[in-house]
Amino acid sequence: MARRKLIYEGKAKILYEGPEPGTYVQYFKDDATAGNGAKKDVIEGKGVLNNRMSEFFMVGLGNIGIPTHFIRRINMREQLIRQVEIIPLEVIVRNFAAGSMAKRLGMEEGAALPRPIVEFSYKDDKLGDPLVPEEYIIAFGWASQQDMDDIVSMALRVNDFLSGTMYGVGIKLIDFKIEIGRIWDNEFPRLVVADEISPDCCRLWDVETGQKLDKDVFRQDLGNLADAYTEVARRLGVLPSNVTHRPKPTLIN
Ligand code: C5P
Repeated sequence: MARRKLIYEGKAKILYEGPEPGTYVQYFKDDATAGNGAKKDVIEGKGVLNNRMSEFFMVGLGNIGIPTHFIRRINMREQLIRQVEIIPLEVIVRNFAAGSMAKRLGMEEGAALPRPIVEFSYKDDKLGDPLVPEEYIIAFGWASQQDMDDIVSMALRVNDFLSGTMYGVGIKLIDFKIEIGRIWDNEFPRLVVADEISPDCCRLWDVETGQKLDKDVFRQDLGNLADAYTEVARRLGVLPSNVTHRPKPTLIN
């Protein structure tokens, strides 16, 4: 294959220059990291599963009128996306207490919140992506007040879509993170959902058993991450037929 210009390499994905102006190729790696890179491993097949699942969610969002950066999947590990200006925020929506919120407020993991809560972290690995109030975002010019109003309503629509889709396959959406990009259509800025949507950036619990099916399996050493992601992909009906990962045989007593 012809060498492509590398644009950016992140912890779980690589961006290459795309075949047409205004596009990138997004490559999904098998690398898993947690604790801002403190814990690392290679989970065979993760990139293939996340490529498929992110395609599934981005296409679904497009179908209900929420714009995304996704154009089309190219192969097992790559998708064609639109170039966007990434707003330097992690937009987090929480339905149940978990992770950093449960820790910060001393809440029990899984406690229902009175309503979905949207929060923002400033994207900066060196600072550990600190939580920031909207006041900072506007004062520092990372996004305008109008952008923030649009981002909150978009994040809540994404939450409704993802919660409903996951509930339909027996999974509770505890929380998730999305990133938002700005694109320019003839001088007019438009906000779109960018980056990826996959179990790497969601908390997903089985409705019946409470079993964790997301990156917490890796963060907390709860078992085999590829098995958990394979289960989510299987339930969503997007399990690639020739994914390299095969669940290991389990001993039946
Ligand atoms: O760790 P915390 O509880 O703040 O995470 C909230 C949600 O955002 C989780 O679903 C987590 O997977 C996701 N997240 C992420 N990338 C980060 C931080 C959080 O995808 N850098």
